[in-house]
Amino acid sequence: MRSKISSFIMIPSFLSVIVFISYIFFKHYDKLSYITNFISIFFFIIIILLLIILEYINNIIFKKKIESLSEEKRRKIIEKNEGNYFYVFYKFFFHKKNNDNEKIKTIDHGFDGIIELDNKLPIWWVHLFYITVIFSVIYLLSYLLLDFSNPYKEYDLSYKKQLYNIKIFEQKKPQASLEKSFFKKRLINEGKILFEENCSTCHQKDGSGNIGPNLTDDYWINVIEKDLYKNIFYLIWNGSEKNPTMRAFGKNGEIKGNDIEKISSYVYFINKEKNKPLKQKNPQGKKIIDWK
Ligand code: HEC
Repeated sequence: MRSKISSFIMIPSFLSVIVFISYIFFKHYDKLSYITNFISIFFFIIIILLLIILEYINNIIFKKKIESLSEEKRRKIIEKNEGNYFYVFYKFFFHKKNNDNEKIKTIDHGFDGIIELDNKLPIWWVHLFYITVIFSVIYLLSYLLLDFSNPYKEYDLSYKKQLYNIKIFEQKKPQASLEKSFFKKRLINEGKILFEENCSTCHQKDGSGNIGPNLTDDYWINVIEKDLYKNIFYLIWNGSEKNPTMRAFGKNGEIKGNDIEKISSYVYFINKEKNKPLKQKNPQGKKIIDWK
């Protein structure tokens, strides 16, 4: 006779679920400005107010109607509608509707004589199913119409974001330069890895020389700086003016300043070290021992 749960609880509840889900889906979009949010909240409040008024009117009509019924019928209806709204709400979701005295339903397959029980699904399960249906519609629409949940667009977006973040990070991070850089013992190990990656093809893994000269001896083709460490840094940054095979790793952006600092520290270390590689390329350039 009367709807079990008042509409002013049901409708806003569903509305808030929808609003919540759409909020999660659309929150990345700045275009949905505060104004639209404000307007939707405004309408939300108006709708609730209207629903409360409607409920009030409904109640009056309900009371008028049961006045005309017999005593017993009236009592039954009032019993049915008992409990506060939240209890009714709970009953709606978790309890079967008065089917305790219903007969047990069966499906007869006929040909094999097996009779299958046809139990009703629990109400909460059915509601869960409805929610997944609603969810799938929202998801499908957002997949087709928006960037959200489309894996290719998502990938593209986060890729661009990451590149941008790297750019910002690189800009903020001060890089070592020839003037400010100096030998750092703690960078040797990292420098070794970078040296093997970038330099070993021409200078050999241990720096003993191949196409490029031996870096572990005291003979130098290029002497530009007075300081040994700075001379190494200078050559990795600017390359050799005499021989373009030794290219300008720093200048042409191939290796960043901080990494050049690591490599320079490593080269400086293997040049100063007493244990020299057994096999070494013949000396090239002038012998220099009075580095500053
Ligand atoms: C493609 C081959 C090649 C690669 C890769 C290379 N070099 Fe060289 N490098 C050379 C050659 C050739 C020379 C000799 C240049 C000259 O004759 O002026 C040289 C010279 C040098 C010198 C000066 C040596 C001297 O006696 O003047 C240093 C220091 C050096 N390289 C360090 C490095 C480091 C560190 C790397 C890795 C970041 C590297 N090189 C990568 C070929 C290479």
